[in-house]
Amino acid sequence: MAGAPERQFLFNRASRDARSEETLLSALTRGRFPVVQRSIRYHRPRGPVCGVGYCTGCLVRVNGRPNVRACRYLPSEGDVVTTENSWPSPRFDVLGLLDFLFPGGIDTLHGFRRPAWAVRSYHRVVRRLAGYGTVPDLGASASLRQAPVRRTVDVAIVGGGAAGTAVAQLLVQAGRHPLVLDRQLVPPSIAGVDVAARTTVTFLPPPTGEGDGRFALLGFEEPARGVEIHARHVVVATGGYDASLLFGGNDRPGVVTADGAFGLLDRDGRPPFERAVVVGGGPRADRVLERVGDAVVAVVAPGGIDPSVVRRASEQQIPLYPRSLVVSASGRSRVRSLALRARGSGARFTIPCDAVVLAHRRLPTPQLFFQVGARMEWRAGTGAYYPVLSDNAETTVPGVFAVGATAGILPEGFTESCTRVTGTIAGSPTNHAPELPRGSQGGPSELEGYYRELWREPRTGRWIACPCEDVLLDEVEDAARRGYRGIEVVKRYTGLGTGLCQGRYCLPDALLILSLLEERPPPEVGYITQRPPVVPTPLAAFAAMEDPAAAPGGS
Ligand code: FES
Repeated sequence: MAGAPERQFLFNRASRDARSEETLLSALTRGRFPVVQRSIRYHRPRGPVCGVGYCTGCLVRVNGRPNVRACRYLPSEGDVVTTENSWPSPRFDVLGLLDFLFPGGIDTLHGFRRPAWAVRSYHRVVRRLAGYGTVPDLGASASLRQAPVRRTVDVAIVGGGAAGTAVAQLLVQAGRHPLVLDRQLVPPSIAGVDVAARTTVTFLPPPTGEGDGRFALLGFEEPARGVEIHARHVVVATGGYDASLLFGGNDRPGVVTADGAFGLLDRDGRPPFERAVVVGGGPRADRVLERVGDAVVAVVAPGGIDPSVVRRASEQQIPLYPRSLVVSASGRSRVRSLALRARGSGARFTIPCDAVVLAHRRLPTPQLFFQVGARMEWRAGTGAYYPVLSDNAETTVPGVFAVGATAGILPEGFTESCTRVTGTIAGSPTNHAPELPRGSQGGPSELEGYYRELWREPRTGRWIACPCEDVLLDEVEDAARRGYRGIEVVKRYTGLGTGLCQGRYCLPDALLILSLLEERPPPEVGYITQRPPVVPTPLAAFAAMEDPAAAPGGS
């Protein structure tokens, strides 16, 4: 990127610059951890967490359009960017004073219901207190309106990472012409393959036997172009993402996932922290040490630590703390230290730091499988749902395949799974193939043991169970005590999982916690099917699809 042309934009009236292909978040970082949001109920400063467009920590207003994710936006010359929801700044919002007046929080979900005649006025006040931004400026949405893309293809591959790319290349070799739908801002270049970049899709109901038997995928291309794809075969290669972790003050700015840390690197590859604690002892932690090891002061692992991490950490003289319970983070507009407890001896200790990088657990993205009605199975090793697969990596919905991390296929089976999918689609399936290697499925896992120990910890500070909606762990516990059972019911009662991330960050932990509270295995606690659209989509995108005047942008 060095030497690429710079673009000037305004951020809260100050002039900033960005290089070509640099995200707004990276441009706002420049060595200082950006805090551009505040939490909706407790008005706590919030920083970016995920770096991949799932959380709510980097929402800003761009050219009059609210809630634009800075990590998913490439600034244009002359853009006007402002923070939203807070005054005078997200680091200190005056409404945060309410926190002192209502230490238990204002119950916007269950309060404000009586007398009935005052409810409308209450709503107005509550929306002011909470809320995500304000409505777009007049014309801001209209300017986004673009002709939709409509395509009919033989094979649609959702995800252009390593697995999606491998399947696409094999299909081209087999004489097919797949379409790859990819979320990345800068799309992969795959020889002979059509790639739709910045595109997120959702399944419409699967074919019923009537019509042409194709699957319908509806979605949008950022910023606001509607996309409708009809495909005979769909290969889901949506990969995985780094999980969050439950502990006191887990929403403090500076607590980021590994992907989040990478997304914050500035244009010279420097992170906005100097003393990070890395949580995790596996391949993700190794990757963090590889990229930003100079800025790491400790590696803390809930369980054991892989030899590769031990080797790299000892080369960089970074101390290791295996089998440690992460108890709480302190700090206000920036994390200042991390309190831990050794799981064996029970010894407590604190590590001063300016960031906590979560690299302990990689989760699949199963939303498309749930939406299309594929049968799913719980795998205790990672504490996540994966699709039930045939030997040829086909789900229980014929025509829908899964490859890569989202299928839970281990790296050693990666190439084989891509080959089998391609063979099946191209009409030469592998017969009597050995089972594809996948992650552990068995009984109570190390993960469940970790949460059981965590549950016994005295709770200091706020333990945020759902960062998007500011739902506390105490509220989840209270719901369970009142007799609300199952994740779907607890979601409706507490609001957990109803925010912009659609439960990506809260559900995995909530399942384990509810399993403890309800004394039944996590799969019996259930799951929530994310409702389409799974990422916030400007209404302009859907409006254009219904507009007879909008000419189709594809064939
Ligand atoms: S959505 Fe941008 S950091 Fe999470």
